[in-house]
Amino acid sequence: MEVLVTGGSGRIGRLVREGCSRGRNITSLDVAPSDDGTVAADIRKLDEIQRLSRGKEVVVHLAADPNVGASWESIHEKNIIGTYNVFEACRRSDVRRVVFASTVHVTWMYHSQPPYSYIVNGEYDKVDIGHLQMISHQTPPRPDSYYAVSKLFGENLGRYYTDTYGLSVVCLRFGWVPPGDKPPQPSPFFFASWLSRRDLVQLVERSIDAGDLKFDVFYGVSNNKWRFWDISHPREVLGYSPVDDAESFRSKGDV
Ligand SMILES: NC(=O)c1ccc[n+]([C@@H]2O[C@H](COP(=O)([O-])OP(=O)(O)OC[C@H]3O[C@@H](n4cnc5c(N)ncnc54)[C@H](O)[C@@H]3O)[C@@H](O)[C@H]2O)c1
Repeated sequence: MEVLVTGGSGRIGRLVREGCSRGRNITSLDVAPSDDGTVAADIRKLDEIQRLSRGKEVVVHLAADPNVGASWESIHEKNIIGTYNVFEACRRSDVRRVVFASTVHVTWMYHSQPPYSYIVNGEYDKVDIGHLQMISHQTPPRPDSYYAVSKLFGENLGRYYTDTYGLSVVCLRFGWVPPGDKPPQPSPFFFASWLSRRDLVQLVERSIDAGDLKFDVFYGVSNNKWRFWDISHPREVLGYSPVDDAESFRSKGDV
């Protein structure tokens, strides 16, 4: 299978290129090319992306400004115009599917109210974990930043391209993928939102391989005890079966 990964020099891009390579021929592009074969290309330039998307079956679109505090100018160029260019290039090149990197930040404002605020503050004794209402892909968005708004733009653009052009689009609302496979200082935020490297790779692989899927949105976090995003939907539709739980670090005395 011919796969193109945008943002291939980045943190998640490297994991996807390495972890998803079996049985797939992966080409990667990045505005900051690395010496491992990633091609220099800028998603702000439609012609560059169109050239590289030709002949590809699936495009995993990761390139972005991934910073929650990024300025509107940066978000507009990379996450709005850049994402439009990727979808439009895929349409013109008859790509079958786009796997789009979204984020838990699209509903992050819910964490300002109980019971989610208790969890992100580490006040676990105030939470009835067995009856916690999970935030699901059907929960109305509450973005916390221009960054999160741009990811909702990408999801909605994907919906439009599915309905209008038949492009298959899988949106993955990733939790936190830290630089190492665990952060130097675990926090309540980490225990809720961690997405381990192997769970990330599994989720992306299953999204690439999912059969007759037209459009869908999935939260992507590990099987964390204190997560408050629903992962039953990716379990049922994609067969996502996360193997990690951030809680295991707590018992090892990492907090
Ligand atoms: N790391 C996380 O915890 C996390 C969580 C949720 C969502 N995401 C999303 O996943 C994706 C990858 O995130 P990451 O953590 O690997 O970020 P990263 O910054 O490590 O990687 C992003 C890559 O995109 C490239 N890029 C930026 N602008 C570009 C352009 N104009 N043209 C081509 N390439 C460009 C960068 O050079 C970089 O290599 C992003 O879309 C991000 O929003 C990440």
